[in-house]
Amino acid sequence: MLPLFVNRWSPRSLTGESIPDEELLALFEAARWAPSSYNNKPWRFILARRENHQDFERLYGLLVATNQVWAKNAAALVIIISRKRFERNDKPSITHAFDTGAAWQNLALEAARRGLVAHGMQGFDYERAHGVEYSRGIRGAGDGGHRQARPA
Ligand SMILES: Cc1cc2nc3c(=O)[nH]c(=O)nc-3n(C[C@H](O)[C@H](O)[C@H](O)COP(=O)(O)O)c2cc1C
Repeated sequence: MLPLFVNRWSPRSLTGESIPDEELLALFEAARWAPSSYNNKPWRFILARRENHQDFERLYGLLVATNQVWAKNAAALVIIISRKRFERNDKPSITHAFDTGAAWQNLALEAARRGLVAHGMQGFDYERAHGVEYSRGIRGAGDGGHRQARPA
């Protein structure tokens, strides 16, 4: 078995350091290589780096208090959205959450490989997250797709 599987974990102690662009982008690139039904790639990401105070506060404000305690030190917060319908024909996709889960795992493993932390969080306000999606003009995000936030 790859040691990477065992070495990935979800610490809550974060250094507060920022992540260079190229490292952050590499995580999304890893996600992009995930397999998906019809190669539909239903995942979408909303990124807020801590340097961009307004963006960061907006996502940070969605988190439950117990997650806020440690996520304040995250270099970035990301909402992961899973599009429920195929882009090419608008038909429902049964596997969208499965596909997006694969993308998240790619991202988390690449982060672990680089000595970074990618910690999944379901503890945030899903309803208010809708507002962030609309304001970013993410088409299809308002279809009730799953959302997961995580700091990198
Ligand atoms: C979708 C998802 C949601 C999670 N939500 C939270 C959360 O809200 N807060 C938290 O501290 N950890 C959260 N976790 C982290 C899990 O508790 C953690 O992955 C699990 O206990 C296994 O530990 P490990 O990742 O260190 O192997 C979440 C993980 C996933 C994948």
